[in-house]
Amino acid sequence: MAPQKTFYIETFGCQMNVHDSEKVIGTLEQQGYARVETEDAADLILYNTCSIRDKAEQKVFHRLNDYKALYKQGKRFGVLGCVAQQEGERIFERAPFVSLVSGSASYRRLPEMLVQIEQGATRVTGLDDRQTSETFETEFTARSNPHRGYITIIEGCDKFCAYCVVPYTRGKERSRRSASVLAEARRMADSGFTEIQLLGQNVNSYRDPDRLCTFAELLAAVGQVPGIRRVRFTTSHPRDFTRDIVDAIDAVPSLCDHVHLPVQSGSSRVLHLMAREYTRDQYLERIAWIKAAKRPISMTTDIIAGFPGETPQDFEATIDLLSEVQYDGVFAFKYSPRPNTPSLSMPDSVPEEEKSRRLQILLDRQREIQRVNYEKHLGQVLETMVEGLNPARAQIIGRTSQNKTLNFTTSQPIAPAPGVYLPVRVTKAFPNSLVGEAVVQ
Ligand code: 5AD
Ligand code: SF4
Repeated sequence: MAPQKTFYIETFGCQMNVHDSEKVIGTLEQQGYARVETEDAADLILYNTCSIRDKAEQKVFHRLNDYKALYKQGKRFGVLGCVAQQEGERIFERAPFVSLVSGSASYRRLPEMLVQIEQGATRVTGLDDRQTSETFETEFTARSNPHRGYITIIEGCDKFCAYCVVPYTRGKERSRRSASVLAEARRMADSGFTEIQLLGQNVNSYRDPDRLCTFAELLAAVGQVPGIRRVRFTTSHPRDFTRDIVDAIDAVPSLCDHVHLPVQSGSSRVLHLMAREYTRDQYLERIAWIKAAKRPISMTTDIIAGFPGETPQDFEATIDLLSEVQYDGVFAFKYSPRPNTPSLSMPDSVPEEEKSRRLQILLDRQREIQRVNYEKHLGQVLETMVEGLNPARAQIIGRTSQNKTLNFTTSQPIAPAPGVYLPVRVTKAFPNSLVGEAVVQ
């Protein structure tokens, strides 16, 4: 019997990439490959890459450089994901020992691409671009967590925000059939999953190809699958965020008390330059819907500091928006010019130092807001899902419906297992996490 083929995979970037890797792993295992934990132990070394900012993109080239000597031992390298799609065959020029370059829109062809590599092909590509209308669905997804798992509902993006590479790296927007999404949710529930996170670059522009339901209806339907206790969704685009999503959260208790709604800037002028297609007021209108929900809903956002042309007044408007919305979390980034994007050629770039300064002001202001927000939980009893143990601190790591980390202790002799839900009373609050004690039931 021939020895089993082995592969190693490292994932960079967003949750879409993490989930794509789960599908790639399942597909490879189906093809007879066994997963190993180090580059040294693998026949095939895969990097699933991110190109959202320059720093993320450089990581894969550092990795390739660190491990290229392994090529002489007969190991083969594959670059997957967003850098693969963006750079295409240029990767072979920069790293000639790479044998496979494939973007996410071509993963359906992975089995045949693997065969080509096994037969000795040295430059195998999967670079379907915006022409493709295929989705990557596989029943072999190797989910890494047995309790909470992702389901892709929409792939690609048609928004073309001025700064963003995603429409070029992940192809055109294509929604998955609602029946297929629900079947996957039921299969997951049957095998013990209790939390599902619906994924897409822009889940709000979901359009069921069979026209059976809207995004809000799909969300509600997944939330009603027996056995599913929590449903999350990410990421949202304010332009397509409709009121019926909040109505669904009101009506279905399993839909989590959390909405991630990237704003990018608090200045309508900058939003226009970014081609976001909404104004500050329109964004705040959506926030008002969320704040009017029956349960308190936690809100988080993404912000870009130092977009070309952002004046001190524009930046001030963003800081002012933070105070107005009172987010529970902000992912803030310095603007990074990306290939192919319209903002690459926009004038009035903000100097790097000034971008850093604005980012720091933003993070400091947000930390203050979170300190106050998190303290509001003191004394509350929150349903918490156990994620694991922190032996160093003798604490159990948990997560609330609002997606907040709640580390707690228990008077019980045996710690609750990952995946268990239990009530926890909050006794201490930090700007990014809560501490508590399990309530004896
Ligand atoms: N520079 C900095 N941040 C970016 N993002 C997307 N493109 C860029 C870029 N060119 C941020 C946005 C987005 C998040 C995933 O990454 O805030 O919401
Ligand atoms: Fe990075 Fe965007 Fe690709 Fe996700 S979709 S891996 S964030 S470039």
